[in-house]
Amino acid sequence: MDYTVETATEAVLASFRDTKDERLRQVLQSLTRHLHAFVRDIEPTIEEWGAAIGFLTAVGQKCDDTRQEFVLLSDVLGASMLVETLNGAKDGTESTVRGPFHMTASPRRDLGDSIDLLGTGRPCVVSGRVLTPDGTPLPGAELDVWQCNEKGFYDVQQPDVQPPGNGRGRFRTDDEGRYWFCTVVPSHYPIPTDGPVGALLKATVRHPYRPAHIHFIVSAEGQRPVTTHVFVADSPYIGSDAVFAVKSGLITDFAESHDEQAAQRFGVTVPFTHAKFDIVLAPETAR
Ligand code: BEZ
Ligand code: FE
Repeated sequence: MDYTVETATEAVLASFRDTKDERLRQVLQSLTRHLHAFVRDIEPTIEEWGAAIGFLTAVGQKCDDTRQEFVLLSDVLGASMLVETLNGAKDGTESTVRGPFHMTASPRRDLGDSIDLLGTGRPCVVSGRVLTPDGTPLPGAELDVWQCNEKGFYDVQQPDVQPPGNGRGRFRTDDEGRYWFCTVVPSHYPIPTDGPVGALLKATVRHPYRPAHIHFIVSAEGQRPVTTHVFVADSPYIGSDAVFAVKSGLITDFAESHDEQAAQRFGVTVPFTHAKFDIVLAPETAR
């Protein structure tokens, strides 16, 4: 049978009929249906299709050991967060994208340590508990945290200014499932724009900014780990994250505190900025 506009989709679907791996067949046939529907919808010229292939080629060529432009493309198209959201545990803290800056191992630190190794910013305490969905504290849970500084740069972006491990730490909760550490309030910052994804944002009049946030990966025995952020409530771009990662349950006040007792407990002086953020881990078996 001739390959025509009418028969095209059926022909390609049939070509995958004998795929042994059932999931692979399902994925490729669905991709075929959606890709053909997209092509029929936009009816590209030969030049336009060539430009699309050229764009994807440039995305691939921008990738290396430390730069993943395809993930960035998935991020700005909202696909990364859609996959996160579909896979997130229903009764745990919501998950968000990991992002490209978790590229070095965070140093192990003691509760209360500062991850601001330069001590130049406004002191801020982040504290909370790691809990099960029914509110039971999880002692010995691990929190891997990383963030940019007050100017919006991660340590790996400023090797001449920030020591390695600045803004990073791995902590364990105490016997009551509590954690606390000192830091600075992070800034909003732009995602990398020096590649084809930056060109796409520019051509579509989209800004590249992410609202201020601290990244967390939290794990505990018997529970599903979560990769998430705490967002600074009054940050610019909180309503228009370039990668669509903001969820209202993750937005937290970074409020000025004059609580002398709390300051003493955390080893800081008043006034200090205090963000309180509890993390709920669903059981390993939860969907
Ligand atoms: C980040 O938050 O580190 C990030 C996430 C997605 C794209 C770029 C940066
Ligand atoms: Fe980030």
